[in-house]
Amino acid sequence: APNISLANVKAHLSQLQSIATANGGNRAHGRPGYLASANYVKGRLDAAGFTTTLQSFSYNGATGYNVIADWPGGDPGDVLMVGAHLDSVTAGPGINDNGSGSAAILETALEVSRQGLAPAKHLRFAWWGAEELGLRGSSYYVTNLSTTDRSKIKGYLNFDMVGSPNPGYFVYDGDNSDGVGSGPGPTGSAQLERVLQDYFTSIGVQTRGTDFDGRSDYGPFISRGIPAGGTFTGAEGVKTSAQASLWGGTAGQAFDSCYHRSCDTAGNVDDTALDRNADAIAYAVWTLATATPPA
Ligand code: PHE
Ligand code: ZN
Ligand code: ZN
Ligand code: ZN
Repeated sequence: APNISLANVKAHLSQLQSIATANGGNRAHGRPGYLASANYVKGRLDAAGFTTTLQSFSYNGATGYNVIADWPGGDPGDVLMVGAHLDSVTAGPGINDNGSGSAAILETALEVSRQGLAPAKHLRFAWWGAEELGLRGSSYYVTNLSTTDRSKIKGYLNFDMVGSPNPGYFVYDGDNSDGVGSGPGPTGSAQLERVLQDYFTSIGVQTRGTDFDGRSDYGPFISRGIPAGGTFTGAEGVKTSAQASLWGGTAGQAFDSCYHRSCDTAGNVDDTALDRNADAIAYAVWTLATATPPA
């Protein structure tokens, strides 16, 4: 799998920051900074040869948008989806939450194009609207798929907050191996977890599980029985001393002390965490999408 350029991921973040700055300081649902963000992502994908759709929906009296990008080719009956929410809260520009996941999957998609990847599976990327108002865009997408089209989606990888300034390295606990919390994801989630863990193991970084607690856009997928996975570097939760021993950073402080605040700006990302997570995304996409199903 390719190494994803941190500089390119950060260039996307800088664009999202500029969009927020030019539009009242945020990229929230129903605000002009959201549509500008969606148009930025769509423009880059169109130029790279993706087949893109701006899917609109209505919520709270405003129009929201999902950007859906299909990479031509692969088995149409075996779809791997990769998604991130593109909206911010109204309080700030939303650069770690979730410019980080949005930029990391965008750069992975652009790398798919540069490499001319011809995967066995069909690859589809998604940037969701209105996550911050209750997973509205991803719910709209999943609900409005036909039963047939929904059954073709064999896996969903979610990336929401992957550059937290005091980072943890969490992987969604698909197999409930820690035996606590919300229980396992749908069958198949364990494989997605394993592939992401394998990447972190290969670079010598330990991971911990994080529960499918319904707080991000995997929710509508797992509730329909679609296997899901993904990574997360932490939000308002406080890093324990055990976690600081494992990962460095500051015990007793939030993973992201600017979570949902105006200070979630371009300066609010840890480059190492962002770089590692972007590379993990590419590793998972290449590994999962190019694997041929067992005979
Ligand atoms: N979805 C939350 C938000 O956008 C953040 C979050 C992501 C929380 C993943 C838990 C797990 O605010
Ligand atoms: Zn948020
Ligand atoms: Zn988020
Ligand atoms: Zn697990």
